[in-house]
Amino acid sequence: MAVAQQGADPATSATGEIHADRPGPRMNRQVFGQFAEHLGHGIYGGIWVGEKSAIPNDHGYRRDVLDALRAIKVPMVRWPGGCFADEYHWRDGIGARAKRPVKINTNWGGVDEDNAFGTNEYMGFVERLGAESYVSANVGSAAPSETAQWVEYMTSPSGSTLAKERAANGHPAPFKLNYIGIGNELWGCGGNMRAEYAADLTNRYALFAKAGGTNKLLKIASGPSDANYEWTETMMRLAGKNIDGLALHYYTRPRDKVWGDKGPALGFSENEWASTMAHTLQMDEFVTKHSAIMDKYDPEKKTWLVVDEWGTWYDPAPGSNPGFLIQQNSVRDAVVAGVNLNIFAHHADRVKMAAVAQMVNVLQAMLLTDGARMVKTPTYWVFDLYKPWQDATVLPIDVTSPWYHKDAFALPAISASAVRDTAGQVHVALVNLDPTRAIPLSVALTGVAASSVSGRIVTGANMDSHNSFEQPDVVKPASFGAAQIAGGTLTATLPAMSVVVLDLH
Ligand code: AHR
Repeated sequence: MAVAQQGADPATSATGEIHADRPGPRMNRQVFGQFAEHLGHGIYGGIWVGEKSAIPNDHGYRRDVLDALRAIKVPMVRWPGGCFADEYHWRDGIGARAKRPVKINTNWGGVDEDNAFGTNEYMGFVERLGAESYVSANVGSAAPSETAQWVEYMTSPSGSTLAKERAANGHPAPFKLNYIGIGNELWGCGGNMRAEYAADLTNRYALFAKAGGTNKLLKIASGPSDANYEWTETMMRLAGKNIDGLALHYYTRPRDKVWGDKGPALGFSENEWASTMAHTLQMDEFVTKHSAIMDKYDPEKKTWLVVDEWGTWYDPAPGSNPGFLIQQNSVRDAVVAGVNLNIFAHHADRVKMAAVAQMVNVLQAMLLTDGARMVKTPTYWVFDLYKPWQDATVLPIDVTSPWYHKDAFALPAISASAVRDTAGQVHVALVNLDPTRAIPLSVALTGVAASSVSGRIVTGANMDSHNSFEQPDVVKPASFGAAQIAGGTLTATLPAMSVVVLDLH
């Protein structure tokens, strides 16, 4: 229900209502998960530099990256791919590093992969972050026995030969394996499969992925991308009873017609900004329609929709290896992040986990590194703002928004979500995706006993304002003072192209 505010002009002002008296589902902290693939400098140089590196490290892991990721409470890390996963053989990545085979990363740049970062290194990484583990099994080019043995190696508490091998590699206690992906993009780089065949393989591989001891392991099927509803229908019909989650991949590409022409990460036009926002708003339609299909087979909503690859995908940074998917990250990406996190909040009953692609140095990254230097991106700062959303109760919020018009695009300018955090405090996220004008907003607070408000904002002077290694603090959160509460109504003026998170007191 939208609330008409006396005097508010719907063409220029937003109005709304938060229904704190009607609490919704929990927003799992796992929705703030991240994806780390063996791709470019996503792992090597970005997370892992090795113990002998001059870059300060904790047993080979970059200290600056660990500190930055801990600060935003990364809840889950998906690894080792992506397309890399369906060519990955776990045995290549265990034991003495000097003896591990060197392979070619055929998906990403054709570079040598020396397997220095393997299972023990990955588990050490998530343990250091306090995050959950999510590995993608090789379904495309390996037998189910390989998945079965990998799971046994990771989780078996017994004296089996594989458990002893893990102990000999430095980890006598089982690792905690929370999630396993049954292949990745089986319709594409995971094996070019038909949905029926992929569903049959999902049943087979999921059966043999048996975790040891008390390890509860959730199995995530390789799902559709974008609007491939037939895949969801088939996977749920044929394999729905044997899986705990279904993946969904959707990348925001401003020019979605040709893969080779996605548009630059910086120096884009306002038309391209509007196109980016129009494309990212499609996430809501995809989640809604895939969820509706899942509802037919799983009306109790036990099966998670896991959006384990999402984010922007632009042309590679000029001069970089095109196979490394390096791109800068600007205010546009911050707004995209806020819009998507709000969409996930609105679908918190079904979207129980997600992973932004990717964590470091790849696509819509949290962090960029260059040798010893590291910079936090605008997307990182949005994840920082949304920390109270982790495990919070979603509160229904209705907003009637003015429209943002640019060329052929007409989009609602305001995206919003609201939660009550685990300590009982209410928070409101407001995104103004219009890059040209500030928007006044007035929201009735039903069921919220708050009398004051504080907040933080992420915005920039230009649509492509960004942080570079030379100027790392161009885009970072600032305190936001343009909000008030009076008479049970929250009012604020949202600057153009901004992400604002308000804390109600
Ligand atoms: O994130 C980059 C790639 O995008 C992944 O490897 C693949 O799953 C997707 O197509």
